Amino acid sequence: MPRQILVTSALPYANGSIHLGHMVEHVQTDIWVRFQRMRGHEIWYVCADDTHGTPVMLAAEKAGVTPEALIDQARAEHLRDFTGFGISYDLYYSTHTDETRAYAEQIYTRLQAAGLIDIRPVEQFYDPQRQMFLPDRFVKGECPRCHAADQYGDSCEVCGASYSPTELIKPYSAVTGATPERRSSDHHFFRLGECAAFLQAWTRSGTIPEAAANKLAEWFEAGLSDWDISRDAPYFGFGIPGAPGKFFYVWLDAPIGYMGTFHHLAAQRALNFDDWWGPQSRAELHHFIGKDILYFHSLFWPAMLARSGYRTPTRLHVHGFLTVNGQKMSKSRGSFITAADYLAHLNPEYLRYYYAAKLNAGVDDLDLNLDDFSARVNSDLVGKYVNLASRTAGFIRKRFAGRTAAALHAPAEALVARFRAAADDIARAYEDGEFSRAMREIMALADLANQYVDANKPWEIAKDAARGADLQAVCTACLELFRLLTLYLKPVLPQIATQVEALLRIAPLDWAALDRPVLDQEIDEYRHLVTRVEPAHIAAMLQASAAPAAAAEAPPAGIAPVARAGIAGAAQPARSAPEEVARPAIPPIADTIGIDDFSRIDLRVARIIKAEAVPEADKLLRLTVDLGVETRTVFAGIKSAYAPEQLEGRLTVVVANLAPRKMRFGESQGMVLAAGDGTGLYILAPDSGAQPGMRIK
Ligand code: MSP
Ligand code: ZN
Repeated sequence: MPRQILVTSALPYANGSIHLGHMVEHVQTDIWVRFQRMRGHEIWYVCADDTHGTPVMLAAEKAGVTPEALIDQARAEHLRDFTGFGISYDLYYSTHTDETRAYAEQIYTRLQAAGLIDIRPVEQFYDPQRQMFLPDRFVKGECPRCHAADQYGDSCEVCGASYSPTELIKPYSAVTGATPERRSSDHHFFRLGECAAFLQAWTRSGTIPEAAANKLAEWFEAGLSDWDISRDAPYFGFGIPGAPGKFFYVWLDAPIGYMGTFHHLAAQRALNFDDWWGPQSRAELHHFIGKDILYFHSLFWPAMLARSGYRTPTRLHVHGFLTVNGQKMSKSRGSFITAADYLAHLNPEYLRYYYAAKLNAGVDDLDLNLDDFSARVNSDLVGKYVNLASRTAGFIRKRFAGRTAAALHAPAEALVARFRAAADDIARAYEDGEFSRAMREIMALADLANQYVDANKPWEIAKDAARGADLQAVCTACLELFRLLTLYLKPVLPQIATQVEALLRIAPLDWAALDRPVLDQEIDEYRHLVTRVEPAHIAAMLQASAAPAAAAEAPPAGIAPVARAGIAGAAQPARSAPEEVARPAIPPIADTIGIDDFSRIDLRVARIIKAEAVPEADKLLRLTVDLGVETRTVFAGIKSAYAPEQLEGRLTVVVANLAPRKMRFGESQGMVLAAGDGTGLYILAPDSGAQPGMRIK
């Protein structure tokens, strides 16, 4: 029985470029979708840009364009990048559409009728200059715990403390630099607590992976708080019906964008919307998401759907985060690789294969180690897979006018049978999202095929004119093994599979093609399928990513970069979602001080004699500095900007008479001076000739 399956990837924010972290999700989804299509199911795959919210509004303002113009441009770029990676959406749409608006209004109205909406005042920081309430990430100031300057309103990037914006010392608006005021206004809340019993049952019904379910158990224990779903004007979003000046918070309409997008597709393809979303729907609904947005998809979303008369998701496929060479992607380290930078230098199918080789159904983070990446692609795709064809197809062309043998080489029959017999296991691995297992099984088969080639040595047989029939049979068997490997790899390598179909002159491969061997038929001339990954290509890509920060950060559209909040673990059950942040404003100049105040600060030239990472702290390096008269240990929050070995031997400037501060990992005896605005960090250094110990006046 063909299944009916609707699949989504999370909707990327419109105010940022697509990067290799996003690609983990879209490649994962696309592999699953392509696999299901090959199995003959009815499957629809939709995605869209997530367009609303304060960051988009402010980014548009900054770029001097309307938010609509900004999101149109972003969508075009996102679609270009995803298409470059072969992601096969049936529709890539937007949340800023009539369809999504209509469902958002309808769902809200139904929740309200069910008594699930509360209105009550909330006090928040307000920017009197820009006349707007400030999301937490748009308030900055001094960390109440470690006193680091210019920290965000929700957490400190230096010491890792989390707090509320009102605890910041000397807060200022990241939009204008003005000192914010506290103001109260009415907010609309979704009473999530009312849905606790339903959610406990729903999340335990096989809908989410085990590890994610454990995370949820913690949230249930902590109690579900009501969810603040409104924002005050000015806001780029949908107005709340019957509440002038109030808008739906972006996370209210974002998942509803899945429905709005499907509605648009349904109209194009004459599908019945209710068959897919109605309460009686027998279709499957699968969402692919990252662990950071689990809270929204496992609690708010099913509760909203169930309580407004719609079906709930069948399954959430939750993945972990991408690291590059073992570290969080970072602009300053040049490891923030955009999809466009990758595509300019490397074959997209390599990354699809590498991700497939690492993905499973768990939520563990996954590392793109670039050395491992080259080694895997070269050994598996080029060495084991493509070589099977390149070493044999030529003989068929040259010696047999392109015609394959009418029967398999008898010694290869058992091997071909074994290849076919692996189909169910491989299919199960794909179905379960255990792609790494599927790749392992496929490569184990490729090893067997290569052993067969090595045992039969077609290049030797070719030297003996009397053994023409043997040569044709051996090469035909190799091509049949190659065809089966191609079938199994096709969800991962759609482009290469298409080239192979052309080479073998066969219809598009699907699961039903398993027993249609390439016997007694003509094939095409062999053309190169893939080339090895060259270190130079990787270097060129990294160079592009590290290129002038401004160029790397600002995509061509002039869209502001995205700073992600709280990517370390799953989102906290906080009422406010991670609000994305536009480029930070320059903070205002501080209050005047006298020269006496200044001269009380003892600034010294220091040489960094040792620099080491502090494993327990994301941001910190432990520096040993030579102050001329003595050596000190100083902890500096500059790990994101410098590798320890870059610092050793360098001169810098240290506040020498700062009271020592006890930290979890030891005492910090001074402070290294560095400039930064949240996007980059630059330590200060004296001109050449300065010596450790010299005082700065
Ligand atoms: N707009 C929301 C999603 C709304 S869905 C109704 C959002 N957007 S996002 O652009 O920040 O992230 C989109 C998806 O990409 C999320 O599933 C997120 O987990 C994933 N990733 C973003 N950075 C990632 C990595 N570094 N690694 C893996 N996935 C990452 O959240
Ligand atoms: Zn701090």
